[in-house]
Amino acid sequence: MRRRHTPTRLLAIAALALPLILPATPAPAAPPTPARHLSDVIPAPAHTHPDAHNAFRITPLTVIRTTPGSTAARRIGHQLATTLRPATGHPLPVLPVRSTPLPEIALLLGGTDNRIGQEGYQLDVTRRGVTIRANTPAGLFAGTQTLRQLLPADIEAPTPQRTTWTIPGGRIIDYPRFAYRGAMLDLARHFHTVDEITAYVDLLSQYKINYLHLHLTDDQGWRIQIDSWPRLTTVGGGPGTGVDGVGPGYLTKADYQAVVAHAAARHITIIPEIDMPGHTNAAQSTYPELNCDGVAPPPRTDIAVGYSSLCINDELTYRFVEDVIRELAAITPGPFLHIGGDEAHATTDEDYRTFMNRVLPLVAKYGKRASGWNEITQADTSTDHVAQFWGTGTTNASLVAATARGTKVIMSPANKAYLDMKYNANTHLGLRWAGLIEVSDAYGWDPATRVTGIGENAILGVEAPLWSETLRTLDDIEYMAFPRLPAIAELGWSPPASHDWESFRTRLGEQAPRWRLQQVNFYPSPQVPWL
Ligand code: ACM
Repeated sequence: MRRRHTPTRLLAIAALALPLILPATPAPAAPPTPARHLSDVIPAPAHTHPDAHNAFRITPLTVIRTTPGSTAARRIGHQLATTLRPATGHPLPVLPVRSTPLPEIALLLGGTDNRIGQEGYQLDVTRRGVTIRANTPAGLFAGTQTLRQLLPADIEAPTPQRTTWTIPGGRIIDYPRFAYRGAMLDLARHFHTVDEITAYVDLLSQYKINYLHLHLTDDQGWRIQIDSWPRLTTVGGGPGTGVDGVGPGYLTKADYQAVVAHAAARHITIIPEIDMPGHTNAAQSTYPELNCDGVAPPPRTDIAVGYSSLCINDELTYRFVEDVIRELAAITPGPFLHIGGDEAHATTDEDYRTFMNRVLPLVAKYGKRASGWNEITQADTSTDHVAQFWGTGTTNASLVAATARGTKVIMSPANKAYLDMKYNANTHLGLRWAGLIEVSDAYGWDPATRVTGIGENAILGVEAPLWSETLRTLDDIEYMAFPRLPAIAELGWSPPASHDWESFRTRLGEQAPRWRLQQVNFYPSPQVPWL
């Protein structure tokens, strides 16, 4: 694997030793880096109060101080130090103490402005230091991601740079518009390894994304170990189960739990999806008994949709579904379990309702809140589900009716938020059934006015799905996600009043040197003034 898995500790030690072993040649003049401003951040912070006379410089004496007695704050301190050491070459010790006489970056829980809430933070920069305050570890972590973007882009370099590490002075008060800011990765059409998923998590966490939805099963492949139905992975996730017959692959439970833990350390919650009652050919071609006629259909690795259906009036179907939900819930600490429900064109409407009315309560039985694609609202249920809108239109009567019953909505309009749509007719990856989506299209909509009758209060948040029919590698994933993922992240976090294309595209352009240093394979859209 690549750079994000270089042994960072070795790198940090090498960085510390470097000044000692290099001959003392005069430093070449550092190229001028554009000064950063408190508002040069994606997602745009809610409130910034710059103070031009009070910038702080990170120096070899700077320490990271964390709330005494808090292991969570201390861990975020170590994460921040690990991020800042390679490029600065400074030791940046992490000290869980009440005070120090040294210039410091303080990460403190409590004592916040009353607007901060559960995921917000307050960041104060003076000549003496930086203080990030939050009510929760998630808020502290979000503040450190802002701090990272406030430093010169060289901070992302893997080796010591001769840069003045200035952080602009003033105060940021920041908190999210929506509680849910998600991304989705499709492991079914092409499998992506643990290293690829965790590399994507690392990128998402820089933009305050807090949920990663994994699309684990589909017609082509089944990508999560289920002990009570073992052939799902050995056969359904076996050789030749990617689109066009490329590649095997699945997550063992240990793999899945490693992804969950890696994401949790970056304040991202994993949501597993088992798509049903359609998109089930991988399971049905593996187990003949999951078909009404008892005959297994052939495996399929084309990209057609809507042809498979579980057998709705067979009790075995519900044993299967309950086994899967039970095993998956047991390894999923997050609150949600996604049951798919989209494009069940081979299931009658009546059967679809029968299925959902049995399966939605099973999710609750195992302690999870059900989410599903917006079709689940056609089933007549009344509890607190989450429906993910993926339409390309601006009306949806059954979704509006469901919100009146308490269902919350995640907005993923396919013609705005789908990261697998091509940018333009020449994009070498992706599909175009929902349209071409340039950066200005991905940014140019408001979640709270997209669907008539679905306003701010009905919306839990936004999600940017990335389907993998055409995507095989991490480079492919990055090319489709960057720069549109940061656009969706901003729609989810920043207040509507801050929405401004000119501001956004300028701030996006400033991300480019960071992405080059992180070796992110981004699409250089002609709409953006890339630095
Ligand atoms: C979907 O794109 N079928 C949810």
